[in-house]
Amino acid sequence: MNLLKRCIYGFSIITLASMNVQCKSDKKSEQASQDATTAEAVTIEKSAYGTTPKGDKIDSYKLKNQKGMEVDIMTYGGIITSLKVPNKDGKSEEVVIGFNNLEQYTKDNPYFGALIGRYGNRIAKGKFTLDGKEYQLAKNNGENALHGGPEGFHRVVWTAVEAKGGDVATLKLKYVSKDMEEGYPGNLTVFVTYTLNNENALDVLYEATTDKKTVVNLTQHSYFNLSADFKKPILNDEIVIDADKLVPVDANLIPTGQLTDVTNTPFDFRKPKAIGKEIEAKDDQLIKGKGYDHCWVLNNQDKGYRFAASAYDPTTGRFLEVFTDQPGIQLYTGNFLDGTLPMRDGGTYAHRTGLCLETQHYPDSPNQKSFPSTVLNPGENYKTKTTFKFSVK
Ligand code: BGC
Repeated sequence: MNLLKRCIYGFSIITLASMNVQCKSDKKSEQASQDATTAEAVTIEKSAYGTTPKGDKIDSYKLKNQKGMEVDIMTYGGIITSLKVPNKDGKSEEVVIGFNNLEQYTKDNPYFGALIGRYGNRIAKGKFTLDGKEYQLAKNNGENALHGGPEGFHRVVWTAVEAKGGDVATLKLKYVSKDMEEGYPGNLTVFVTYTLNNENALDVLYEATTDKKTVVNLTQHSYFNLSADFKKPILNDEIVIDADKLVPVDANLIPTGQLTDVTNTPFDFRKPKAIGKEIEAKDDQLIKGKGYDHCWVLNNQDKGYRFAASAYDPTTGRFLEVFTDQPGIQLYTGNFLDGTLPMRDGGTYAHRTGLCLETQHYPDSPNQKSFPSTVLNPGENYKTKTTFKFSVK
């Protein structure tokens, strides 16, 4: 009996002890997996940003990862108001041009950080024809229509339909552009999803459907200054654009209809070249653009989503790579920044202190039969993705 008791007691001790060990190790692994989740989590946080003059309440969402990158996006214009990434010493700093209040964005904003639609870039004389019917858009850029019209998608209020964190943080914005809004046919339902991951990449996914034949060309208009010193022009940035051809333009920045070879021109960025190296060259296209303000014909269009362009700031080591499935990319070197718009903390944005890399279809495609089509029909899904990936080297 004694022996039996002792055996049971001993067994219980062993069982309890092993349960305890098991329990402890479960706790440990639970803790470890919690740590892993916390360590890897990309968070999203909502806050109030302000109220527009029309009385719309605007929210801002901060997407933040564990690698020092954070992006602030507001529901007004789907605008990226801030984007911070580390330099080569690990210091995270602001790299996009922006204002420090909503009011300024609703006043004078040359598309800083904004979502652009329904048609990014220019449409000649603001006119195009679909199925024999001519549509007249507002002329907001001399004789031409630019970036979807005076209000476009950059001055409207988007609805956040999804905001969640986790392995990645996702902000899905929605906007319904009414039939004939800014002169474009069809009710267009648009979703733009910003996703930040832990590899310092920000994806922008554009989706749209229409109930009438229309044209669509959506893009993102952030002005990057990778040096984080907004008093400094972006001329030392080394650019690569994977394009053998350019879409040359006339004096009003409307495509001539040809696609020209970049070889032996200041537009050859197939190997890294500083923006400032040839920007002042006596080149007809540079003169017309007042610098670089052109769309390149990206290579490997049959591959779909692929590397398109990069920018590298040698002083801070920041490196931005752009990937897209679009046929073109507009490099705009902030030629119209003229020292009139306020910086966040004093001073003004001077000539060429930011650069845009706008993935898109070629300008004026609705009027250029030889360019890839930008027509969207009812029943079709417009879906395109661009990634801005940051690293250092
Ligand atoms: C255009 C420029 C225009 C600028 C407005 C760019 O996308 O290519 O010509 O002046 O947007 O900020």
